[in-house]
Amino acid sequence: MIDQLRAQLSQQIAPLLNMDSKAILASLESPKQAGHGELAFPVFSLAKTLKKAPPLIAKEFEEKLNQAGLEGVEKVQAVSGFLNFKFSPEKIQDMVFSEWNSSEGRLGFSKRFENQVMTIDYSSPNVAKPMTIGHLRATVIGQAIVNLAKTQGYTVQGLNYLGDWGVQFGKLAWAYKKWGSEYDFSKDPIDSLFKLYVRFHKEAEENPQLDVEGSLMFKRLEEGDPELERIWKDFIALSLEGYDKLWSRLGVKHTLVRGESYYNDKLKDVVQMLRDKGLLEESEGAQVVRLEEEGMPPCLITKQDGASLYATRDIASAIDRMENLNTDLNLYVVGAEQTLHFRQVFKVLERAGYDWAKDKCHHVSFGMYRFGEFKMSTRKGNVIFLEDVLNKAVEMVAKQIEEKNPNVDGKSEISEIVGVGAIIFNDLMNDRVKNVEFNWDKVLDFNGDSGPYVQYTAVRCNSLMQKTAANPKAHSGVVLNSPEEMEIFRHLLSYGDTLKKAFDYFKPHILAGYLLDLCKLFNQYYAKQRILEGDAAQVETRLMLVKCLHQTLKEGLGVLGVKVPKAM
Ligand code: ARG
Repeated sequence: MIDQLRAQLSQQIAPLLNMDSKAILASLESPKQAGHGELAFPVFSLAKTLKKAPPLIAKEFEEKLNQAGLEGVEKVQAVSGFLNFKFSPEKIQDMVFSEWNSSEGRLGFSKRFENQVMTIDYSSPNVAKPMTIGHLRATVIGQAIVNLAKTQGYTVQGLNYLGDWGVQFGKLAWAYKKWGSEYDFSKDPIDSLFKLYVRFHKEAEENPQLDVEGSLMFKRLEEGDPELERIWKDFIALSLEGYDKLWSRLGVKHTLVRGESYYNDKLKDVVQMLRDKGLLEESEGAQVVRLEEEGMPPCLITKQDGASLYATRDIASAIDRMENLNTDLNLYVVGAEQTLHFRQVFKVLERAGYDWAKDKCHHVSFGMYRFGEFKMSTRKGNVIFLEDVLNKAVEMVAKQIEEKNPNVDGKSEISEIVGVGAIIFNDLMNDRVKNVEFNWDKVLDFNGDSGPYVQYTAVRCNSLMQKTAANPKAHSGVVLNSPEEMEIFRHLLSYGDTLKKAFDYFKPHILAGYLLDLCKLFNQYYAKQRILEGDAAQVETRLMLVKCLHQTLKEGLGVLGVKVPKAM
């Protein structure tokens, strides 16, 4: 990785320049321009101490370093205030081959957050309701950030903050007791629960008395009625069963379920704490924390009837995450429509003296899907369900395979991997803060910027290795140095930095874009160079490069939660 080159170089040049190697390490960067080598050292900050213009300093350093000769460096060149370092193809190849060989499964991993805990709230659906396309984003962006955090050394707590409390469960219980026997809960439990829920609301429109009875049932649930508690627990278990099926298709596994109801008995303390700190004010019978000075509407803490609110629970939950789960970084992967909510929650916590709310809690927000021309049949109203989207993608891929490659083994498994992978990748290749234009042709385009394109390139690399009896070899005496090969090597070297950056911004699209670029570089190379032809040592070395490419695509996709099929 490039950081290894950086470390080696700063060690080498520090004594020659009479500088601290740490200071050099901190300022070594990637040159802005292609052709300027692999690393650049800006000398501007030295102008003051050396009392010379930066270009002059760079020129003097250039002479000094070229005279001394640096191991692995082909050329040092001064360009205005920068020193550019161009490494030899041999050095670069050695570095890539040996690193890739030794880090299978942990490519590009760093230890920079070792011994730190990240808690991340993601997916977090609402019991008895199917996950929607909005939850798709909260799920796949969340899982990608989980995986990215692990590459940076974090211990990750994946938290499912299940929406499992509220008056709707009284209503649902009412409906369940009345009509439950008419539904089959064994096949698609969430679907049945949702139908009950919809039916209740339809009937309640005509007969408002139902709402009153539903609310009464919720009151009984709150008071601990054993029968209602049992029914409510069933709703949760049935829902989790349904969600688990989807989560496993998407490669998601939470470490912890702490739903909204988990905080029921902790809310009183939260309200008291806010009161003790003088933050609560009455407003039309409700208790609020005013946030006018912060330019926000007041944060509602309890309603007139004393009931708590979404924000109250989130305040309790944040304290729990930071103090009981020993969290160092606390993330919420939730849509942009809840931005105000999180700003209010974090601000109330900060005002209550929890300093961590200022810099350790982040709302990782995301935009919405836009469907443009595309119509998707919906089961109810305008809501698009996550499961329907996955199934449709898998179906469309199955059709394509039937047309293009009908004799391939394991067609249904391939369709699942490619269909689901296409949906995940399409989501993650977009900067999360933007809205996503959803277009089926693009999602499944094997030749465009898509998941299937990256998967296909990985499969192609793999089949190249299978096609020959020759083995990839790291030390064959050959140094690959065509412009295409050098570009691939350089791109590979920046894989570790890409993971870092994608994590630091909580932006998986940085990694997705990197993988797309790598595919393009490989496909250009593949079009130009007959990889398996010619001198045996050449072929073995090229195969080694192909192997590194395959590994990077496979592990990079893995970080995004996308699998690679054996064939396509
Ligand atoms: N259950 C909510 C929803 O489906 C998301 C919960 C987000 N997390 C939180 N701590 N508020 O919209």
